Amino acid sequence: MIGPRGLAAALRPCVCGRPSTPFILQRGSPLRSLLVRTLRAPYSSDAAASPPAATRAPKTVEINGKTYATDPWFNISPTVLSLTSRKLHLQKDHPVAITRKIIESVFPGPTYQYYNEIDPVVSTHENFDSLGFPPDHPGRARSDTYYINKDTLLRTHTSAHEVELFRTAQSGGFLISADVYRRDEVDRSHYPVFHQMEGARFWDRNKVPNGDLAAAVREDLARLPTHNMQVEDPNPPFHPDRNPLQAEHHTAEEASAVAAHLKRSLELMVNEIFSRAKAAAAAAKAQQGQTPAAESEADSEPLRVRWVEAYFPFTSPSWELEVFHEGAWLEVLGCGVSKQALHAQAGAPSQVGWAFGIGLERVAMLLFRIPDIRLFWSRDERFLGQFRGAGDDWSRIRPFVPFSKHPPCWKDVSFWLRGASAAGGNVKGVAGADWHVNDLMEVVRDVAGDSVEDVRLVDEFTHPATGRRSLCYRINYRSLERTLTNAETNAMHERVVRELAERLGVEIR
Ligand code: PHE
Repeated sequence: MIGPRGLAAALRPCVCGRPSTPFILQRGSPLRSLLVRTLRAPYSSDAAASPPAATRAPKTVEINGKTYATDPWFNISPTVLSLTSRKLHLQKDHPVAITRKIIESVFPGPTYQYYNEIDPVVSTHENFDSLGFPPDHPGRARSDTYYINKDTLLRTHTSAHEVELFRTAQSGGFLISADVYRRDEVDRSHYPVFHQMEGARFWDRNKVPNGDLAAAVREDLARLPTHNMQVEDPNPPFHPDRNPLQAEHHTAEEASAVAAHLKRSLELMVNEIFSRAKAAAAAAKAQQGQTPAAESEADSEPLRVRWVEAYFPFTSPSWELEVFHEGAWLEVLGCGVSKQALHAQAGAPSQVGWAFGIGLERVAMLLFRIPDIRLFWSRDERFLGQFRGAGDDWSRIRPFVPFSKHPPCWKDVSFWLRGASAAGGNVKGVAGADWHVNDLMEVVRDVAGDSVEDVRLVDEFTHPATGRRSLCYRINYRSLERTLTNAETNAMHERVVRELAERLGVEIR
């Protein structure tokens, strides 16, 4: 059985390589990471552009029935390409799909229209430019994003569709659920494909009664249900430096009303999810014959959430919502008042509203107590069978019971980075200039697939005389479904080593 600690460990940000999830890590909580895988490196710090790494590119690729021409930007592995057709968020009784439906239930039609089948192939314009990402933003780098060609990529977030839906969704709101793609490290909470939901609500200042936008928003807020969660919201709705109001477009009264509507809506969503998680845990205990007296302290604690100021290029002011879970604050979503430039691009400059993005796997891992993100992709009946029937009847949701724990098998690979110069490091023309850890991760995933649990940097060293850099990574081979034999682990590792040398040009030590 994986206890609370096991789950907590699974949600811990990985410790190797570059700081993923920077604004998650920077606030120092060990559990901040998963959701907003969303909020990982791409959308915050880190150096941009890495030069093309060798990928054997086909001339064209077919994704969901459409053919695209590749160019030297192409960097999608066959494994990732094959996942574009899985659509876990649409599979009946799949935990990702159940989580989506629970969220949808909090945002009812006809105001909210649902979009669950938008193709993952988008333009760089949609994914980045339309949202105000600067041209040198690290999220655009080939090390972080899967490109088909220079102008076409696999969406890295559902926000890529915001402008289009501000244009077409006339109802005043929408929810999108979709698969999103990011090149990343290998561990129990990161997978190159995951699912997000985007939600937005907007009002048209030319259509509200008496042109009083703030009053219309407040009236809609008054119609929302209430909840009895403890909410900590220590900051003012906006702050001139840290979290500015879009003063040229919104009055303080308008922005406050939109923020209040946004916060209540998302609190209701989180309350719904976590109440269901609690009910599922209690039902499992009851089934095991434990009386309510055996309820742990955590079960009886009231749900606590808090609002934290944040930054996104396409909202201002912006926030993250965190939930107190098993002794730590866990980030579950990013949101804010939509930048007016998005509505203007949509041809509707009189719209004003909010948007949020949430990672479904992170929420599903909490709701169903799923300890490893690879499980979502499993076709093993011992996994899928545990959720059968829960899609139509949420009272049948139960915490996942791990079916086995197979032994880990660690193997190390050490290598010299390409190039030799007096100064090792990530500078063009010197050792390791074209090195990015995500390229290694991609090779490992490609060769060993879901048989690898995690990959960690265990040693790093620069030769004092030559300036060459050497790295040592430890690969943990462990299948979730069966015990790997020594022979097959050795064979996989040998292939990983060979492909690293071939594809990345590193020199194995
Ligand atoms: N798209 C953002 C991410 O993936 C999340 C977000 C969505 C933030 C909508 C604000 C508004 O990190």
